[in-house]
Amino acid sequence: MSSFSFDFFAPQEKKNTTLTTTPCQRQDGPPHQWVTDLEQLLTNRVQQAMVYSELVLPEQSLPLRCIDTKADTLSSTNPVWETTDLMPKVYEGGMKVWECSVDLLHFLAKEQPKYSSVLEIGCGHALPACYLLRVALQQKQEPFHLYLTDFNDFVIQQATIPNVILNAASTMEQPDNPSAIVTAVLNHVQFGHGDWLSLQLPSQVDLVLAAETLYSEQAAEETALLLSRHLNDTGSALVATKRFYFGVGGGTDAFLAASEKYNLLVEVVQSFDTGAGNIREILRVRKKAVYTRRTVVC
Ligand SMILES: C[S@@+](CC[C@H](N)C(=O)[O-])C[C@H]1O[C@@H](n2cnc3c(N)ncnc32)[C@H](O)[C@@H]1O
Repeated sequence: MSSFSFDFFAPQEKKNTTLTTTPCQRQDGPPHQWVTDLEQLLTNRVQQAMVYSELVLPEQSLPLRCIDTKADTLSSTNPVWETTDLMPKVYEGGMKVWECSVDLLHFLAKEQPKYSSVLEIGCGHALPACYLLRVALQQKQEPFHLYLTDFNDFVIQQATIPNVILNAASTMEQPDNPSAIVTAVLNHVQFGHGDWLSLQLPSQVDLVLAAETLYSEQAAEETALLLSRHLNDTGSALVATKRFYFGVGGGTDAFLAASEKYNLLVEVVQSFDTGAGNIREILRVRKKAVYTRRTVVC
């Protein structure tokens, strides 16, 4: 009787061990929480007038809507964002539309991807996610779950929720029917705020979107960590970033280093180089298949 052995690789059953040692909460960040009184919040907001601009997208007849927070009368209750772009751990920049989020929006409009569960971290105005929501509503896509989260609760209230309402309304046959808009949003979207390290989802998602979340070495590392936590094994992430964030670290290189640590594969799928300033990139990120070696002796 002959005896021989061979090696084969099987998907690892346990998650990457680095994850278990990574903090789920930090001392100085507000714990992440999901908005619980959403129906009431939407019902109130949907009835209020909103001033918005429209972004024309290539090959799309319907422009995307974006609330003008400066002109919006409900938005002037928190002056911190009117005086600064960013104040670490107080205000993380979500009231402004950053240019890489518009890059990502155009990329999605061109690529027309379909996913059934989507998370946008550091969403701010959430324009990329609003585009995917709009497509899902137009095409009556089921299931479709969208999770939108930002550090600041006032960003969710004054920028994210209005944009979701505006773009959901734009798909309705009767755009003046508030209850239909509220129902559509309630059926598909959840909003959360607080520190992303303590973010918890019911299950991992197909797609994570992140625009301008790599703006320091720490933020780049945490973005990689979040992708490794919240992406399912076959999912992908699209990260829109500046190649370098001068003066603060962060950017593509810092993210690539962190991605190694968290077993992520990164591919640059689009670059924007005007020759006059910072190069911007869109990165597609997947989990590396992690294998264990088993030896079978026959
Ligand atoms: C520069 S803004 C980008 C906003 C939006 N994605 C855009 O491109 O217009 C960075 C975003 O990262 C998020 N962020 C940074 N650190 C965070 C943290 N520790 N927890 C949660 N969100 C954080 C903030 O919510 C903020 O909206």
